[in-house]
Amino acid sequence: MTDHPVLFSQEEGIGILTFNRPEKLNALNREMAAAFREAVSRVAGDPEIRVLILAGQGRAFMAGADIRTFLGMDPLAARGFAERAHDLLFQLENLKIPVIAQVHGFALGGGFEIALAGDFIYAAQDAKFGLPEITLGIIPGVGGTQRLARLVGRSLAKELCLTGRLLDAQEARSLGIVARVCPGVALQEETLKTARLLARRGRLALRAAKQAVDRGADLDLRSGCALEADLFALCFASPDAQEGVRAFLEKREPQFRGD
Ligand code: COA
Repeated sequence: MTDHPVLFSQEEGIGILTFNRPEKLNALNREMAAAFREAVSRVAGDPEIRVLILAGQGRAFMAGADIRTFLGMDPLAARGFAERAHDLLFQLENLKIPVIAQVHGFALGGGFEIALAGDFIYAAQDAKFGLPEITLGIIPGVGGTQRLARLVGRSLAKELCLTGRLLDAQEARSLGIVARVCPGVALQEETLKTARLLARRGRLALRAAKQAVDRGADLDLRSGCALEADLFALCFASPDAQEGVRAFLEKREPQFRGD
């Protein structure tokens, strides 16, 4: 079903969710949002999927929410729009598995906000990131003001939100927004390589590492370290912890069961 607004494929424990409205640079309309929500729920409910990749079809990751959606919108509808979008991105962010945003071309507005809700971003050299909502007379409503400020600090987040300026991949990398920049032709393979690596890791440890960083970021240092101690202890509930340690001592590859 290639005209479906969100494509989904799954192989070797890796789910690939592809925004598929290339003629509109994957602008997120109501149908795509519903399909995205459905795909995220499907991933959450499928224990076979161990890593999720987010990608865009055509020449962009996503150029934002479909601007037509905002035509004639009243404040009540706007609030509902933002609240539904926040719920969806919390659902994405809270997936127990790693989520990699594989970004090429534009990741603007909602596209950037979705990428920020993943665990990390791999970008093609041609990628462009930004929150241009201000140029429409509005502000980001899908978590951008919050997640970007937490990532890069308030000053830079405000400069980007107030000007709508776009960042290229290198600048995004230098600011810590992007984890890795690759030539466009290599992006998919580099992302898959990391996804395959993560799919072989212990599932509980991956989840604990993700939670320690995400939840800890909202805590003071002492509370964050207490949380880390709890999650560290939790790792020992899985036989994977002993397997990883034994494999190192026996100079072999670990065979994680994935509990
Ligand atoms: N909403 C609706 N349609 C969009 C869109 C969006 N966010 N972004 C792109 N499109 C559509 C364009 O209208 C165009 O449709 P058309 O061919 O029917 O006219 C098509 O996608 C291709 O975009 P186009 O503008 O022709 O490509 P470009 O390479 O010249 O410019 C952008 C690319 C991203 C700079 C430009 O499309 C843009 O500024 N988009 C809006 C970005 C934005 O403000 N996002 C935040 C929304 S809240």
